[in-house]
Amino acid sequence: MILRYVRVETVAVLVTAWLAGALGLGLATDAGAVPTAALMALGALLGGLLLLIRHSLDLADRIGNLAAQSTRTFETVRRVEADSRKELKQTFGQMEALQNLNAILPTSDVLPATRGWAASPDLLLALVDLVITERPSLIVECGSGASTLWLALALRRFGIDGRIIALDHDPVFSGKTRDFLARHDVLDLAEVRDAPLESFSLDGETYSWYARTAWEDLAGIDLLFVDGPPAATGHQARYPALPLLNKSLSPIATIVLDDLIVPDMREVLPRWLDADPGFSSEILPLEKQAAVLRRT
Ligand SMILES: C[S@@+](CC[C@H](N)C(=O)[O-])C[C@H]1O[C@@H](n2cnc3c(N)ncnc32)[C@H](O)[C@@H]1O
Repeated sequence: MILRYVRVETVAVLVTAWLAGALGLGLATDAGAVPTAALMALGALLGGLLLLIRHSLDLADRIGNLAAQSTRTFETVRRVEADSRKELKQTFGQMEALQNLNAILPTSDVLPATRGWAASPDLLLALVDLVITERPSLIVECGSGASTLWLALALRRFGIDGRIIALDHDPVFSGKTRDFLARHDVLDLAEVRDAPLESFSLDGETYSWYARTAWEDLAGIDLLFVDGPPAATGHQARYPALPLLNKSLSPIATIVLDDLIVPDMREVLPRWLDADPGFSSEILPLEKQAAVLRRT
């Protein structure tokens, strides 16, 4: 109320009116100079008091706003600090994994970027570790890229008698993957198949997944890496991988499902386990989280 109505201009008008009134009253009543001056001074005093109160309230209001702002700034700083710590830890983990990969699999040509759309170094290291320890004969990848190259490099470096078939719905990306495989001279170990997405009906739902012609000949898959199709291609886009390729898996097959940090992708895992209780899963606490499934 005071903040709304008590303004300098209003008070100036009131005080002026008061002064004029007091002067007029003094003259009209012949009250004498001292009482008239005292009455006039009272007006000025009341005006000053009003302005002082307004100023104090204004100040209190600003202090209140400043306190709220400081609290918000403090919370933001704390959040940024926590995020930075997490990011720093994450980046160090990825650098460490990349250094590990480079030490295990030295290369002499340009390497594809990791993270983002591509698999992160921590997952690539986990995949390479699986290749070294399980020596798969047939690796199938849903979604080609950096992972295709690192898996092929692992097969070559450890003299594993295996091959990789990577499916890709996008000819631009399959082409890029082939270029990398050629530059690293591992085209004999890895094949990228163009597999445009087509419609599949599973459990009463329709999915877009890699064209049947690209994978129906596959048998005895020892390692299945599910990193495509991208989430944007449809709801639970990776779900069809297990129902459609289950019968093509070898009895000792290992399945790796990436990107569990994406809620839509995470939902695929329990659906797989419900549909085939013969599998058990382990979550790898990686940057993008992955699940490893094996037959029990
Ligand atoms: C998650 S990515 C597969 C990544 C692959 N496993 C790797 O490690 O690089 C799934 C599919 O997304 C597509 N893709 C890859 N990079 C992309 C980009 N930068 N923008 C759009 N699509 C991309 C490719 O068709 C790829 O098969």
